[in-house]
Amino acid sequence: MLDPGSALLIELAPSILSADFAHLADQVTRAAEGGGTVIHVDVMDGHFVPNITLGPQLVKSLRKATKLPLDCHLMIENPDQYIPAFADAGADWISVHQEATRHLDRTLNLVKSHNCHAGVVINPATPAELLSEVLDIVDYVLVMSVNPGFGAQSFIPNSLNKLRRLKELREQRRLNYRIEVDGGVALDTVARIVQAGAEILVAGNAVFSHGDPMINAQNLLKAATEATLQKV
Ligand code: DX5
Ligand code: ZN
Repeated sequence: MLDPGSALLIELAPSILSADFAHLADQVTRAAEGGGTVIHVDVMDGHFVPNITLGPQLVKSLRKATKLPLDCHLMIENPDQYIPAFADAGADWISVHQEATRHLDRTLNLVKSHNCHAGVVINPATPAELLSEVLDIVDYVLVMSVNPGFGAQSFIPNSLNKLRRLKELREQRRLNYRIEVDGGVALDTVARIVQAGAEILVAGNAVFSHGDPMINAQNLLKAATEATLQKV
C-alpha cells in the first residue's frame, strides 16, 4: 500500500495524451520542472474506448526519459493479457477499469504481483459503491470525470459527489487508498476538485495543449494548493 500520510499531498500527473509525441521526452521534462510528480499514460485499445493510443513499447522508451513514476491507465478490454508487458516495460502504477474487468479482484492482484501499485478506475456512470469489495486492496481509485477516450473534454460535475463519497468511505473504513481524478482538470475546475477530495490530479489538455508545459503545470498546482488551504 502507499504511505497513508501521502493521502494529504496534492500531486499533479500530467497526461501525455495531449503531448507532442515527436518531442515527448522534452515535454515530460518540462511538465516535471513545473511540478508534475507522476506521468499519466493513457492506453486505449479501440474496443473499450473509441480511440487507439499506445502500448508497452512507448512505456519502455518513456521509462528511459524520466525517473518519475509512470501511471498506466489501461482503457482496454482483457487487461490481464497486457499487465505483465506494461510492468516489464517500466510501469510503476497500473489501473484497470471496473467496467472492463470481469474478475476485478484477480486482476488487481495480478498488478500487485508485478510489484506495481494497483488502481481501479470508474467511468462517470459507475457508482463508487460498486468498488466496495476491492477498496481494501487497491492503492488508488481513479475517478473518470469525463467519458474516457479523448482529451480536452468538459469536466462532468457529478464527479465531485463521487470524490466526496470515496473520501467518506475511506474514513469510515479506515483505508489508505489515494483518490485520483482524470478529465477536464483545468484552472477553472481544479479548486472544486481538490476540495471534493481528489489528491492526484491528471491533466492533459491543461498542461500540454498550449504554451509551456512547465508554466501550465506550475499554475495548475498553485491553484490546487491554494484551494486546499481555503478548504478548512
Ligand atoms: C481520457 C484520458 C485522460 C485525458 C484527460 O480518456 O483518460 O487521461 O488525458 O485529458 P484532459 O486533461 O485533457 O481532460
Ligand atoms: Zn487517463
